[in-house]
Amino acid sequence: MAAATQLSSVFPLGSRLNERGRLEVGGCDTVELAREFGTPTYVVAEDDLRVRARAFVEAFQTRHDDVSVVFASKAFPCTAVLRLFAQEGLSCDVASGGELHLALRAGFEPQRLVFHGNARSTAELELALEREVGLIVIDGFDDIDRLEALQARRGSGTRCQPVLVRVTPGVAPDTHASISTGQPDSKFGLGVPDARVALERLNASPGLELQGLHMHLGSQLLDLAPYRAGVEVLATLGRFPVYDLGGGLGVAYADADRPPSVADYAEAKVSALHDLLGPGRRLLVEPGRALVANGAVTLYSVMSVKRNVSTWVAVDGGMSDNLRPMLYGSRYEIEVADRFGGSTLCRVAGKHCESGDVLVREALLDQPQVGDVLVTPATGAYTYAMANNYNGVPRAPVVFCSDGDARLVVRRDTLADLEARDIP
Ligand code: LLP
Repeated sequence: MAAATQLSSVFPLGSRLNERGRLEVGGCDTVELAREFGTPTYVVAEDDLRVRARAFVEAFQTRHDDVSVVFASKAFPCTAVLRLFAQEGLSCDVASGGELHLALRAGFEPQRLVFHGNARSTAELELALEREVGLIVIDGFDDIDRLEALQARRGSGTRCQPVLVRVTPGVAPDTHASISTGQPDSKFGLGVPDARVALERLNASPGLELQGLHMHLGSQLLDLAPYRAGVEVLATLGRFPVYDLGGGLGVAYADADRPPSVADYAEAKVSALHDLLGPGRRLLVEPGRALVANGAVTLYSVMSVKRNVSTWVAVDGGMSDNLRPMLYGSRYEIEVADRFGGSTLCRVAGKHCESGDVLVREALLDQPQVGDVLVTPATGAYTYAMANNYNGVPRAPVVFCSDGDARLVVRRDTLADLEARDIP
């Protein structure tokens, strides 16, 4: 029998088990949500995202006057999420012409956009210039070539584009290799000697206005010490009005995980800025994961239960809605939505045609049966973002919940969507 009454800390703020022992997110009963919207479905507690956005702004604004919290939109790039953070006064990091388009459509003013990318086309950069984005982050010499050529073509009356130079400080944080970016052998940014050359070039560039430096060491960082080491390297390049210190704050995927607090994270970045670069700088930070990961859960339905060496519980989603276990070996908690706290050791697999499609390798569930709704917490970051149609599986919808009201903000793919791009 289900024993748990206390929820793991990785569920969205305000979640609870109701009188019927069912999980409620944003005041909505998740078993009823599964019935109404089908499964798999991403369920977002809207208030959770707002609370976290405000916590970030407060943590940085109390420590530094001139600071912008820039949502890294790659973590959850749907209009409703972007619009929510635009309403909360955040800025937005975009890493392609597509993300740029989505952010503008969601209501971010162009000057609040920071445009990244290590392989942007001339067309993407031209879109950014035309829309007058706040900052373009230079990732290499080819960016300078393209931007200078574009500005020359656009003529002398055009606005001078503010830019930052992305520096790879040679600091390797402790995280999965696929999401580490600060190391010397990185595809992102320029090492210090090349950055010096880029800075000289930009100082002499008529259409581009050099404002400062950018660094992003990596993602899901649980140790804050590398930020100071990175800023020490930036300091060797001189002093600039603007510093963007990227994102990276790790989150808890399991109840026992203890990531740094937002306050500790803000303290680490701001104190490094103050101590090593002095007062009067404009600071940008680019949180993605920490703003959205814990604000959402994914609902699945059990399609099959099978026993061999393991007890295999197969659900109606998998690597099409959450690639993270397969790409990074990420671990997730999972529960039966109306019977938390089970003791049957299970392996929860997806519906896709490969053996690697396992969502949770060791789950303790309460006697799972076909038709049960399963719930995986901490699925707000880089899940919807990396969703795909493998095996012709329609991508899952997104439902926002707040105060007991549920509203669909992204619909499920239809079968017509699956063939929409095919030329008959
Ligand atoms: N700024 C830049 C330039 C970035 O490249 C990233 C993430 C961020 C900010 C946001 O970092 P965060 O605060 O979310 O750690 N798909 C991977 C994560 C890739 C991160 C890419 N860049 C995953 O699922 O873990």
